[in-house]
This record gives sequence, structure tokens and C-alpha cells, in this order.
Amino acid sequence: MEYRLAQIEDMPAVSQLQKLYHVSTISKKDKPDGFVTTLFTDEQFKELIEKENGLTIACHGDRVIGYAMAASWKYWSAWPLFLHMIADLPNMVYTGKTLTQENTYQYGPIAVHSDYRGTDVFPNLFETSRLEMKKRYPILVTFINKINPRSLRAHEKLEVEIIKEFQFNNNYYYALGYDTNKKTPGSTI
Ligand SMILES: CC(C)(COP(=O)(O)OP(=O)(O)OC[C@H]1O[C@@H](n2cnc3c(N)ncnc32)[C@H](O)[C@@H]1OP(=O)(O)O)[C@@H](O)C(=O)NCCC(=O)NCCS
Repeated sequence: MEYRLAQIEDMPAVSQLQKLYHVSTISKKDKPDGFVTTLFTDEQFKELIEKENGLTIACHGDRVIGYAMAASWKYWSAWPLFLHMIADLPNMVYTGKTLTQENTYQYGPIAVHSDYRGTDVFPNLFETSRLEMKKRYPILVTFINKINPRSLRAHEKLEVEIIKEFQFNNNYYYALGYDTNKKTPGSTI
């Protein structure tokens, strides 16, 4: 298994994986095991790769079997949910610090192909993304929809911690944090 930052050539494979588990296109069979909600256009993938160093992938041979996004709030401000989170950052404290757009970044969405779940792919993807982003930020911030209990449990195993709950557009979410100086529990890289 290889974990690395994605390049432009990886975009079609990531896009295909995005489609498999995006809430708008996921199969009925897969949905109970979680879904992603942020949808990326090719232009947004390109900017994530080139300007943010923010697209981490897991590859098994030629196959991309997992991805994790991470980027500055400036990047995420194109999506309404993230504008809401940006406005709420000053009301959140993690590791004794009040959160700002400078001391945090937003991690996620993340998805692992169903054939590779329950393995070390998830912690290793998270770890690879953390190692890149810790160069720029001390704190990771993310959100999980309350109707995605598998993702919540998976992130709790990595010791990603709930900071608060919030509501947006009739959806209920947890906002979570992680200290980027901490090695990811369960990672083997
Ligand atoms: C989220 C994701 C990356 C986690 O990776 P993973 O390899 O599945 O994670 P793990 O198998 O290590 O952990 C999942 C945990 O949830 C548990 N779980 C599974 N279904 C569950 C449910 N309905 N309710 C509560 N817990 C559940 C599993 O038993 C496991 O816990 P355990 O190891 O204590 O038994 C992966 O499930 C995924 O890609 N899902 C689809 C996309 C997605 O939801 N992305 C996250 C958006 S925030």
C-alpha cells in the first residue's frame, strides 16, 4: 500500500471514488456505512492539489482505494457549511486555544473503498495527511453528520475529539478537533 499526496493525473480515480460514496450517488447498500457530502468539481480538485497540498491518497497497485482532503479555510469558503463553521471558530476552544482561521485547517471528506475498511488504511491515510498539514497548522478541525455513526466511531478510535454539536440546514453535526503534533493511533507508517 502506498500513501502519498495526489497529483493532477490522479484526479479521475479520485473523482470515481468520490462518486461511489457521495450522498447524491451512493448505493442503498453502501449508505449505512457512511457517505461524504462535499462534492468537488475538477477545478476544485486541481486547486486542492496545486495550491493546498491537500489531497492525500491511498493506492493499492494502480488503484486509488482511499482519499482524504485537507485545506485552509480560505479554500473551503466556497461551500456554505464551511462559511458557517468559519463564523463559529471563535466560539470553539481546543487544546486550550481559541480556534482561528490561522491556527486550524479543515480535514475531510475522507473515504476508503469498502474492500479496505476495518484495516489500517484509514489511520494511515489520516496520518499521511496530518504529516503534511502539521507543517502549517497546530489543530485539525472537522465535522461529522450525526447520521454517520460509522465515521464518528472510526474517528473516535483515532482520538479525534468532539468539540461541540451544531445544526446547519436541517442537519445535525459534531465539530471535532485533533492536535496535529500527535501521531495517529493505529497508524503503521
Ligand atoms: C469513514 C471511513 C473512512 C472509516 O474507515 P473504516 O476503515 O471504515 O473505519 P474502521 O473500520 O476502523 O472503524 C469503523 C468503526 O465503526 C463501527 N461501526 C460500523 N458501523 C457502525 C454503525 N452503524 N454505528 C456505530 N459504529 C459502527 C465499526 O464496528 C468500527 O468500530 P470497531 O473497530 O470498534 O468495531 C470509512 O468507513 C468510509 O470511507 N466510509 C464512507 C465515507 C464516509 O463516511 N466518510 C466520512 C465522512 S465524515
